[in-house]
Amino acid sequence: MNTNTIVAAFCIAVTAIIWMGTTTNDTDWTGNRNVCVDDCYDQWKADNGGSVAEIEREKQIALAAATPEALGKTYYGQCIACHGAGGEGGIGPQLSGQSSAEIVAKLTAYKAGETRGAESAVMWPTAQMMSDTDISNIGAFISSL
Ligand code: HEC
Repeated sequence: MNTNTIVAAFCIAVTAIIWMGTTTNDTDWTGNRNVCVDDCYDQWKADNGGSVAEIEREKQIALAAATPEALGKTYYGQCIACHGAGGEGGIGPQLSGQSSAEIVAKLTAYKAGETRGAESAVMWPTAQMMSDTDISNIGAFISSL
């Protein structure tokens, strides 16, 4: 087989795949639910508040405008099980009532693998997953509780 034959075979294969993907005997398009253009996409945009690109742009703007406290609140979702929704404590100690600086210092110590209490090992992996920004956002949120 020379190069031209290979290229021709490749083109035929691609054409066949495209043809199979766009051809259907089903006039209601129920067989190909991934195709959502024209009216279908207009409806989707109406239902979802904009095009995919517009929604993504809105998200980026909201994220950029979010305060450290709001970002910390979002991150805190993974701490609730042990520290309580209001930071009142449970499996882990109470966090509410502490200043941002205290929280940041404690999380930074855990991140460095330091032992603070009998159960510090529980906090090491959690703190290691946190960036410095995550830690300061959490500090801002907890000091607001
Ligand atoms: C699996 C349960 C668990 C989860 C999840 C957890 N923690 Fe903890 N946390 C603990 C325990 C237990 C301690 C006490 C550790 C010790 O003995 O040093 C602790 C201690 C702390 C302390 C120090 C409190 C003090 O006053 O000494 C802070 C701050 C803290 N956690 C923040 C967080 C944050 C922020 C998250 C979420 C990103 C989180 N924790 C997730 C169990 C948990």
